[in-house]
Amino acid sequence: MSAIEELHQQLDQAVNFIRNQVSFEPKTGIILGTGLGSLVDGIDMVGTVDYDKIPHFPVSTVESHAGRLLFGNLEGKPVVCMQGRFHFYEGYSFQQIAFPIRVMKRLGIESLIVSNAAGGMNPNFKPGDIMLIKDHINFFPGNPLIGPNDDKIGDRFPDMYDLYYCGYQQIAREVALQQNLPLQVGVYVGLTGPCLETAAEYRMLRGFGADAVGMSTVPEVIAAHHQRIKILAFSIITDMGLADNMHPCSLDDVIGAASKTEPKLRALIAGCLKRM
Ligand code: HPA
Repeated sequence: MSAIEELHQQLDQAVNFIRNQVSFEPKTGIILGTGLGSLVDGIDMVGTVDYDKIPHFPVSTVESHAGRLLFGNLEGKPVVCMQGRFHFYEGYSFQQIAFPIRVMKRLGIESLIVSNAAGGMNPNFKPGDIMLIKDHINFFPGNPLIGPNDDKIGDRFPDMYDLYYCGYQQIAREVALQQNLPLQVGVYVGLTGPCLETAAEYRMLRGFGADAVGMSTVPEVIAAHHQRIKILAFSIITDMGLADNMHPCSLDDVIGAASKTEPKLRALIAGCLKRM
């Protein structure tokens, strides 16, 4: 069997399994980042499927992430929520990180909302800020689209035009304004972690034009865009990475800051979803 046939077989098995557990057609996928798990509280839940039950699904290993797909309605819109995501630093391949995105596409999603925790490098930011991602830099040592391409899934050489869909960015700006929520806008750079960055690395990444840095999102967004899924993405700035003003930063700091800002992000996402 070719690699592409094998991928399709695995996707079929995963999707059939999920459909047998939950009969529901989501239109929007939501990926919850570190400390953002309770974003799902507003969802009128229809069913859940644990990752470890789904054939070929990777299993989440990070303690701060639950591992399940959650189906339900948010603001009257059918959504599937990834409660827990897969990071390259955990040892997953980019193919594995892309797999749930491809599954969600087959389940019916047309849009994807992504959230993450990130270190702020723009000196105008502060911990607790929400940043609308307008673009990204892929600093991972790879790309989920490397390997044989299946034209049925997407183009061999997808352009990155409108990667973070402008229509959704506009909605996010308007909703934030209505909610009196200050919204930062910037470029996210994704890299492997798990180390946070050195002062020299923060200086370099800032020089490259990035406003925030984190260890996720980029591979998932590339896989989604390849399948023509429209993307809306937010970072919660959990700590500052300023080369000339370095501080210790623990996972507790990151999770604490993300959890504190989470209600605001939850309201923002709900407000956006209503108009998407
Ligand atoms: N660097 C990388 N990833 C992060 C950071 C950071 O400072 N904060 C939260 N995730």
